[in-house]
Amino acid sequence: MKVLIINGPNLNLLGKREPEIYGSETFEDYFKQLQSNYPSVDLHYFQSNIEGELISKIQEVGFSFDAIILNAAAYTHTSIGIGDAVKAISTPVIEVHISNTFSRESFRHQSYISPNAKGVIIGFGMKSYELALQSVL
Ligand code: DQA
Repeated sequence: MKVLIINGPNLNLLGKREPEIYGSETFEDYFKQLQSNYPSVDLHYFQSNIEGELISKIQEVGFSFDAIILNAAAYTHTSIGIGDAVKAISTPVIEVHISNTFSRESFRHQSYISPNAKGVIIGFGMKSYELALQSVL
């Protein structure tokens, strides 16, 4: 089973970015734990701060991987292009967010990903990614 986790802008700063919201663990550390806890999954990771790179990666794996776990971060709320890419591919996409976007500013309540996501997991901290992976399995 091939699964790709994609993180969007500013998520490379996890661990130091607003730790009261996003926690103090780096994604690299969390990802290593996930890989060792789910050895049967061929788990990959990609992060970019650039919208077009995220779209290209979704297109690249979107007809061959078994699932994409996508935290498009701020682009969730703005990017018709990423929303269209999710719609265009055959690989199911699970949208995740670390924080509960609905308990935050109203501009975080809109998602261009959700209408075409297989499912959405929001607000469980870093655990959101593991819950998404479990839903794939
Ligand atoms: C986020 C929520 C977004 O609103 C925000 O722009 C992020 C992270 C989350 O995982 O909680 O960068 O996607």
